[in-house]
Amino acid sequence: MDVDINLDVRSEAIIMADPDDMEIVFNNLLSNAVKYNRMGGKAEITIDSSDTDMIVVFTDSGIGILPEDIENLFAEFVRIKSEKTKNISGSGLGLSIVKKVIELYKGTIKVESTPDVGSIFTVRLPKKLINIPE
Ligand SMILES: Nc1ncnc2c1ncn2[C@@H]1O[C@H](COP(=O)(O)OP(=O)(O)O)[C@@H](O)[C@H]1O
Ligand SMILES: [Mg+2]
Repeated sequence: MDVDINLDVRSEAIIMADPDDMEIVFNNLLSNAVKYNRMGGKAEITIDSSDTDMIVVFTDSGIGILPEDIENLFAEFVRIKSEKTKNISGSGLGLSIVKKVIELYKGTIKVESTPDVGSIFTVRLPKKLINIPE
């Protein structure tokens, strides 16, 4: 897929986390932003920081997701079946693992999406973590 990827670090955000855990989150969300995009489309990652959280936003110009599909997206083995996704392969496990990892860190993930316009996945991870997951 021919997709332009852009990274925008708006403010320094330092968190205590296992790099392998963060790799799972970044890798899955960025690869979805590319996989479910269109030829010549865009994927953007912005990193920002509030008083309490690191905020990472993955925006794509892809196929989007219908409102009724969003609620099941993070369950295991869920893949949306449509004319637009029928030639795209995957296990349907990525987002379920991403969500589990984020929740270990007491963070949140939310999705906003418009079919044929694109999707925005927003991850918030607390900067101060009392119990670091093993
Ligand atoms: N950025 C996205 N744009 C459109 N649909 C998406 C996006 N990310 C995920 N999806 C949909 O959610 C489903 C589940 O995603 P995921 O758990 O990563 O599984 P996989 O990518 O292996 O199919 C995908 O099959 C796809 O239908
Ligand atoms: Mg995936």
